[in-house]
Amino acid sequence: MKRRQSANTVAPVSLAARRLERYIAPMIVLGIETSCDETAAALVADDRTILSNVVLSQLDEHQPYGGVVPEIAARAHLDYLDGIIRQALDEANIELAALDGIAATGGPGLIGGVMVGVMTAKAIAAVQDVPFLAVNHLEGHALTARLTDDVDFPYLLLLVSGGHCQLLAVEDVGSYERLGGTIDDAIGEAFDKTAKLLGLGYPGGPAVEAAAATADDPKRFKLPRPLSGRPGCDFSFSGLKTAVRHAAAKLPDEVLSPGDAADLAGAFQAAVGDVLVDRCANALDAFAQSHAGAVPPLVVAGGVAANLHLRACLTALCEHRHTRLVAPPPALCTDNAAMIAWAGLEHLRRGATAGLDFAPRPRWPLDETRTANA
Ligand code: KG4
Ligand code: ZN
Repeated sequence: MKRRQSANTVAPVSLAARRLERYIAPMIVLGIETSCDETAAALVADDRTILSNVVLSQLDEHQPYGGVVPEIAARAHLDYLDGIIRQALDEANIELAALDGIAATGGPGLIGGVMVGVMTAKAIAAVQDVPFLAVNHLEGHALTARLTDDVDFPYLLLLVSGGHCQLLAVEDVGSYERLGGTIDDAIGEAFDKTAKLLGLGYPGGPAVEAAAATADDPKRFKLPRPLSGRPGCDFSFSGLKTAVRHAAAKLPDEVLSPGDAADLAGAFQAAVGDVLVDRCANALDAFAQSHAGAVPPLVVAGGVAANLHLRACLTALCEHRHTRLVAPPPALCTDNAAMIAWAGLEHLRRGATAGLDFAPRPRWPLDETRTANA
């Protein structure tokens, strides 16, 4: 990550010089992310520099339960958030007084954690007398590509995370048209459940990817490609997950061998890749129809976008369709606060901020994002 010196480290300077410096210096926003099991804080400047990006994963706290326990997550955010924010400020060498805004995930997510982040952000914003920005977590993922790459509106977004799987036309900040979504499990959930079934541990996505990489024969098991070949941009993963269970149950050994688990993980990942390509191809067609034949860049975002096999499948599709795939670095695909700071900056640049009366939203569809910062 690039670092940047604080605008306030050169002393003494006149008030006029300070004002001028503040005027020409890029705006800097503190981002806070607490919607699931990562406690994160980051400082991002609107010249697209990430000044610091601190992520504390609560893996150890939740591992014994095989999934995220909401109350444990909320208590952990409460314990760690202050220290994580301090660390982000120190690593960027920035004082609170140099900030132009405070952004926090306002939803969707686990309500206890979202409340901790939102209250902390509001308190800092009130004391520093700077705007508070309520960021839709999904919008954080959706706009990350504009932080990491040169991407203009409009573009096609494949949002693949633990709680979501959607295809959207991204028209502008706060303007999203949903083209399709999952009719049952989210894609990350399918990875996590499959990992559990195969005894690969938690968190499931990286475990499935690692096991699949060691597969001798991923074609050994024939798994379905749900909804593939059908019109539309919706997804379905529950049948695929069940097919993995049935395939595992048919094996003679009571306990899956590492080799069988790897082949099944490889077969599952290959099926998911084929499904994503099929659905994204339809979405590219739908986008072209509503945008006078335009072929948009395809942006992939969310934790599952860290998967290298899936990226390779989407890259091949984009080459075939003469467009480009934009995939942020894996560390900015999984939950982080740089994406929240950046989405906050995108709103702030347009003069849109949230009131201190903003109420956290455990459910908050991306196509309703306009309503938070006005
Ligand atoms: O975006 P994210 O960090 O949190 C949510 O907003 O949900 O996504 C977490 C999800 C989890 O289901 C995790 O298993 C999955 O992303 N994931 C992956 C990989 N890394 C994380 N799935 C597949 N392959 C990966 N390498
Ligand atoms: Zn996320």
